[in-house]
Amino acid sequence: MRKINIKTIILLVMLLKRMVHTKCRGSTYPFSDIVRFKISDEQVPWNVCVPDYDPPEYNSKVLLNKPWADPPIGDCSFKPKWNELDGNINRKSHSGAYTVLNGRPLNPEGRTGIKGRGVLGKWGPNHAADPIVTRWKMEHNRKVINSTTNLPVLQFCAIQRKDCKQWALPGGMVDPGEKVSETLQREFLEEALNNMEASKDQSEIDTKMIKDFFKEGSEIYKGYVDDPRNTDNAWMETVAYNFHDENGHHVGKFDLKAGDDAQNVKWMDIDKHIDLYASHSNFIKTVVDKLKAHW
Ligand code: BGC
Repeated sequence: MRKINIKTIILLVMLLKRMVHTKCRGSTYPFSDIVRFKISDEQVPWNVCVPDYDPPEYNSKVLLNKPWADPPIGDCSFKPKWNELDGNINRKSHSGAYTVLNGRPLNPEGRTGIKGRGVLGKWGPNHAADPIVTRWKMEHNRKVINSTTNLPVLQFCAIQRKDCKQWALPGGMVDPGEKVSETLQREFLEEALNNMEASKDQSEIDTKMIKDFFKEGSEIYKGYVDDPRNTDNAWMETVAYNFHDENGHHVGKFDLKAGDDAQNVKWMDIDKHIDLYASHSNFIKTVVDKLKAHW
């Protein structure tokens, strides 16, 4: 009996540890030399008292007067409706209502060691969408089976981000008023097919193909993302969808070409060693389990 209890406790601790955000607690904030205030895993939750918590404030100058960015907090023209659909800006979090303290939204996952909104356009949640486009790895018209797990190897369409050079899903921000399904298609067309620079005819062919292929997708994840840009007052959330080409007849035909925020694109073999941007490896693992693929 005692043994079971200890095991359960260890499991719970491991689960809690896994859930604590880590990628937004690295020492230096991206694209800056601002060093985050150091906090331990235990100090992350807001309800744990950290009397000396005194993080630096950072708001990138890049955001000033940008049509896609909020004004600074305190600006008299800025009257956000937190936790609501504010005009066509979605200030609701997928994780439920967040706390607003002294006029600032609080990161629902806890402390990050930096206040302000860093380089994120919106205070509070910043919404993205990620398409996970998968196919089976084939050789001589047969699925490639991994000899250790005896399971077929899955591939996904990966892009290399221009900003940090890390491999990632070809996702992007949901534009104000845009439906997630539209963002998923637009981002894939822009980043994995370079639709913005394709000829009009090619662009029309690609758009039709993606529209048809993206009709059948399954939701893999919806919620907070452990993104290196997150701060105490601004954070990333996403909705990730899997679009799987079982027989390779649809995506197999795609002529992948990197565009927009992507500098490279490729079909990447999936296994437990993939190291991707933010929480993208976790989303991929969910797809792997669902499709019973090698990991
Ligand atoms: C990326 C998405 C990512 C999100 C959260 C966005 O900038 O384009 O792929 O899921 O940030 O990290």
